[in-house]
Amino acid sequence: MSQLFEPYRLRSLTIPNRVWMPPMNQYSAASQGPDVGVPTDWHVAHQGARAAGGAGLILTEGTGVSPTGRTTPYDLGIWSDAQLPGFRRITGLLTSLGAVPGIQLSHSGSKGSTDRQWLGRRRLGPEQGGWRPVGPDELALADIDRIVDEFAAAARRAAAAGYQVVELLAGHGYLIHQFLSPVSNHRTDSYGGSFGNRTRFALRVVDAVRAVWPDGLPLFVRVSATDWLTENPSDDREGWTVDDTVRLAKALAGRGVDLLDVSSGGIVPDAKIPVGPGYQVPLAARVKAESGVPVAAVGMITDPDQAAKILANSEADAILIGRELLRHPSWPSTPPGHWEPSRASRSRIAARTEPPPGRRARVGGSDFRAGATGYAEGADASRGGVRSTGVPETIWARARSGVVAPAASGAGPAGSTGRVRPDSWEVPRAHPETAHPRRDRRHHGPRRSFLVRALRKSAPSVKPVTPAGPGVPGFRGPVTRFS
Ligand SMILES: Cc1cc2nc3c(=O)[nH]c(=O)nc-3n(C[C@H](O)[C@H](O)[C@H](O)COP(=O)(O)O)c2cc1C
Repeated sequence: MSQLFEPYRLRSLTIPNRVWMPPMNQYSAASQGPDVGVPTDWHVAHQGARAAGGAGLILTEGTGVSPTGRTTPYDLGIWSDAQLPGFRRITGLLTSLGAVPGIQLSHSGSKGSTDRQWLGRRRLGPEQGGWRPVGPDELALADIDRIVDEFAAAARRAAAAGYQVVELLAGHGYLIHQFLSPVSNHRTDSYGGSFGNRTRFALRVVDAVRAVWPDGLPLFVRVSATDWLTENPSDDREGWTVDDTVRLAKALAGRGVDLLDVSSGGIVPDAKIPVGPGYQVPLAARVKAESGVPVAAVGMITDPDQAAKILANSEADAILIGRELLRHPSWPSTPPGHWEPSRASRSRIAARTEPPPGRRARVGGSDFRAGATGYAEGADASRGGVRSTGVPETIWARARSGVVAPAASGAGPAGSTGRVRPDSWEVPRAHPETAHPRRDRRHHGPRRSFLVRALRKSAPSVKPVTPAGPGVPGFRGPVTRFS
């Protein structure tokens, strides 16, 4: 049997297998009112589906340790006991389905107060529910102390809500990463400058969290193993490097961190990243080999053989499957021989030889990924692999297709993944220079007609409407309309 389905023991917790779901923000919490930050039915369904599909560990999306620690006003938050019943719904469901519930705790720092991804992540002002985001350079010592305490309080609440794994977000350009990286930390006091000073905030957060998080339960840290600046000879900015990560990993392990979730990038939007299938696996493998700390690999791992090989080669101890689990919630429990790559994966495979116009790979001019299977197409690597043009994030699709029904409370997108056919939005968008109206119609036609059919099915009050009666000029019989 593939190691993918072997249990994994960390402290006194046994995770039933090594196929895990990474945190994926759904931007679907209420942005104001009494339920701000509280998980909704959407979160319960999103995570429940992947637990029912067989993922051994489900990490709840990046959850703000304070209101200003969120990235968008629609993020989850765990800064108040009043928010806990919503999280207990998730942990109860996941546990009953045999999955381990985990949660990522995050503080966005200077990356906060933005709108949702599909609205371009524009900065929001206070009148739009935003706040003034602050990074390491602007934080007073008292603010640093307060944020450390907020992480600890959030971890205490996570335990009270029934979570069994806490992951701290120290990558993707969020606050802890902003302290770590010389490209974003310009402090001249004991939190800036040397490696020891830049890692001080991260280590303080880890110590504070470990002190309140139960001894028998594991603590993870998600890192961006590199800022992808040093690897690029034509970029003279000084960034965080894999060597730094190895050094940090050893320090973290000494303070009770059990596993590193190894991602990359996210701190500078224009870093050149050699995005492609499994492109972050070599980073995880290096951190594991050189620090001896267990790691999870993440990033464009979509194929069961690919995932199994990573474990067999001891490149990682567990695999995180993100977007592919959005496409195929039952990926982990699909029997061998019955698994079929989604259209997105197939198009990526095809794109390795011939990227379609407008979706070319952003290749960083590095041969770092020697041994990997080739570059994928069209990924926008600037956000740590978060956003990719080939991504069928259900939330984007809902937004773009008009199926989104933002609740009056400002709860963000609502709806059902079932309303959007998984592959229907994965048509390549025509390049402006080669766009052809007929081809565009071909691409958009099926999606539109699918949605119309879906809407017809779901609209409870579809009834024939007769805007004018017989004898009225222009009347041509009953007309069906959505009311
Ligand atoms: C919709 C979406 C939301 C995400 N939200 C988070 C998040 O809250 N925290 C985080 O660390 N990474 C987040 N990520 C990144 C994923 O955890 C993962 O690292 C990334 O998608 C690469 O893995 P994949 O290629 O298997 O999707 C998000 C990714 C997606 C697609």
